[in-house]
Amino acid sequence: MRSGKGAIGFCSKTAIMLGSAGLFAACMAPATRAANPETASPARERSVENAGVADPQIWSTATDPVPENPAIEARIAELLAAMSIEQKVGQIIQADLGSVTPEDVARYHLGSVLNGGNSAPGGQAYATGPEWLAEADRFHAASVRPQDGLPTIPLIWGSDAVHGHNNVIGATLFPHNIGLGATRNPDLMRRIGEITAVEMRVTGLDWTFAPTIAVPQDDRWGRTYEGFSEHPEIVASYAAPLIEGLQGEVGDSDWLTGSHIIATAKHFLGDGATEGGRDQGDSIVSETELRDIQAAGYIPAIEAGVQSVMVSFSSWQGRKMHGNRSLLTGVLRDRFDFGGFLVGDWNGHGQVAGCAATSCAQSVNAGLDMYMAPDSWRDLYTNTLAQVRSGEISMARLDEAVARILRVKLRAGIFDAGPPSSRELAGQFDLLGAPDHRAVAREAVRQSLVLLKNENDALPLRAGQHILVTGDGADNAMKQSGGWTLTWQGTGLTPDDFPGATTIWQGLDHAADRHGATTELSETGEFDHRPDVAIVVFGENPYAEFQGDIDDVAFRDTANSLELLRNLRGQGIATVAIFLSGRPLWVNRYLNASDAFVAAWLPGSEGGGVADVLFGDHDFSGRLSFSWPRDATQAVLNIGDENYDPLFAYGYGLSYAAPGRVGPLSEDSGLATESRSEPGLIYGRGETPAGYRFYLAGSDGAAVTIGGTGAASGDISARRIDHVSQEDSWRLSWTGAGTATAAIEAPAPLNWARESNGDIALEVTWRVIQAPSRSVSLMMACGDNCAGQWEIGGLLGVLPTAEWTTTSFPLSCFADRGADVERISTPFALRTAGALELDIARIALGSGNEARQACP
Ligand code: BGC
Ligand code: BGC
Repeated sequence: MRSGKGAIGFCSKTAIMLGSAGLFAACMAPATRAANPETASPARERSVENAGVADPQIWSTATDPVPENPAIEARIAELLAAMSIEQKVGQIIQADLGSVTPEDVARYHLGSVLNGGNSAPGGQAYATGPEWLAEADRFHAASVRPQDGLPTIPLIWGSDAVHGHNNVIGATLFPHNIGLGATRNPDLMRRIGEITAVEMRVTGLDWTFAPTIAVPQDDRWGRTYEGFSEHPEIVASYAAPLIEGLQGEVGDSDWLTGSHIIATAKHFLGDGATEGGRDQGDSIVSETELRDIQAAGYIPAIEAGVQSVMVSFSSWQGRKMHGNRSLLTGVLRDRFDFGGFLVGDWNGHGQVAGCAATSCAQSVNAGLDMYMAPDSWRDLYTNTLAQVRSGEISMARLDEAVARILRVKLRAGIFDAGPPSSRELAGQFDLLGAPDHRAVAREAVRQSLVLLKNENDALPLRAGQHILVTGDGADNAMKQSGGWTLTWQGTGLTPDDFPGATTIWQGLDHAADRHGATTELSETGEFDHRPDVAIVVFGENPYAEFQGDIDDVAFRDTANSLELLRNLRGQGIATVAIFLSGRPLWVNRYLNASDAFVAAWLPGSEGGGVADVLFGDHDFSGRLSFSWPRDATQAVLNIGDENYDPLFAYGYGLSYAAPGRVGPLSEDSGLATESRSEPGLIYGRGETPAGYRFYLAGSDGAAVTIGGTGAASGDISARRIDHVSQEDSWRLSWTGAGTATAAIEAPAPLNWARESNGDIALEVTWRVIQAPSRSVSLMMACGDNCAGQWEIGGLLGVLPTAEWTTTSFPLSCFADRGADVERISTPFALRTAGALELDIARIALGSGNEARQACP
């Protein structure tokens, strides 16, 4: 359980010395897991009483395109009359696969399950088609098991199929939405929707949490790539065809059935307008801007018959959307006439003022129909039931929410469809990643590429050339696929996880054969034969929600790609940059070092689409759907801005038919200090990010900063050792003669509430040299008298000695043990009174896929 309830505080009488982090007594009250900025500051909520309250009258009206069906309405009335209160409450709750069993579904009458980005059947990181289908059958069977004369109501299963059916191995992976935005091709959206629905049907799932119709305004947001465009016109023109592709067309006999599934428009509303591009943040925009920009896709989505809308984690003018009655009921339901149901987002209800993940009448009363309560569902069920009994949630409102969910289930034919494996297309696993599906994805890749620069005849590639293909993205299906791919953040994957995929290198290699050119692959840029041209594939590493939030729009190069480009160019070799990214980033130095430069976004599994265009089989046709920055401070840069001054404007894109000249660009980032560090990195390559301090504190209490060639304090010392490159790691040695600590202190308290709620873990890459002789505490401190500690002596004792491994410690466990995750001052401390020797290479926040530890 990640909810605050049931968390056990701990109290030890020993005072802990943490060097300069201060002296604190480790005696903590049970974790205050409020993780709730609004409950933390009720004063703010009161002082802005009317902020965040919309006036529905100023919003356009829309009409639900689905005609009332008397047979369905009669069936709903019948069901409501026969259902128990418990069954109704269960119906409005959705649990996550990682925290629920089929037995639970039967017992609590749950209306739905989802698989969050990190959940898959059998507790695996990800799973194959047959495993998904079998699991879908198990959950379905539990939901329709007859019980005490109650009506049986099949569940529906929701999944983030956001760029194809991306949680399933071997599925077709389409470019992420930012790339689709560049294609300016609404018809392609329809075909992508159709294929995604077919592949979902194969695995027996009913419902996708897509499309995202956010209109991202600040490119620091880690979900920018989930949006089609910064401009509402593209978003509005894509919403309907994509939804019709997924669901079919309202009025057709196979609407929501046959090869179709249920779609979700998300996240309502204002997810793309948060201050600073902070994920789950606050959109402080005016109501007009909220309506005209952020809501642009919703009317077309509703008029195309979308059957669910997901509520946004974010706030509007300080008020959390999950509690915003004026927008959920006043605008979406009443004004827009939305006839489907509103689903929440991952414990998002718990962030409403006065709520917890396990209790939130406010959300249902504001208009939410189904809570997404991944791990909190059990206590939420109990509390919601009590709230219905006490009248805090009226029976009428509960019935209405249930009716809205039942209506969608009836429309989708779920009641009569039988087990998922018996439905149309189910089990036809050869349709996962089928050649004609991949062909559409490849077409999408081709059309998504935006040519930013092409000089000195660098492109197209031609017969007779010897082509070097290099860069860390060249032969890397994981990197070209981005977040929401098999794992939530899209990290921790190997080539074997992408059967049937084509990397950019593989595509170029095949095309070279066809065109009479030769190729050579080398990630580092060395070559056997001097090339005529080098294709350098590089860019952002995968990330998803808030892990990808950054402070400025400079590209954070983790692979020395600039040196690679400059080095090749310095040898007189023509350079073609293929830039993989989830957003436009400031790359002037790279543009200067390249003869040609292609923004390839996150193309997905069909890297062959890149070669199609590079060899000139097709011309470039992609146009920027986001403005490209002239310097790294231009995070908020949108067409229509006053003083709009991009490097490449919205709509820009060169082609062979319409070339242009870019010329040399300023290499001044505009930033006072350029951060080289990756988001979430606490320590890596032997260094801590600017402002952080890695220190040792021996029993005499003196703290000594680690640096130079080594450091020592009392009974602990550190010296440099080699991991990947020379002296890029530290060896820490505890003598065992007294208690000593190695710790990393942050320059200012870190607020990791969001990370903790999102199941993020502290990932430590280390190697035990000498196992501990006594207990060892791993600690996270939060100022004076505040810490969460974890006994890991046993774990270190069983890690293989002399072998590098990564171990993941979920943040929520530290919170459960007393750390206040809203103000972490010391994100990492290791303390023992015994002897111990270990090497540390890297400490960072991550999705924790590797050796994830259960809470102590
Ligand atoms: C995301 C949603 C997603 C949901 C389920 C949330 O954290 O914001 O977009 O659909 O998780 O995985
Ligand atoms: C995401 C889920 C993800 C989970 C990790 C949530 O915030 O939306 O999709 O699986 O965190 O546990």
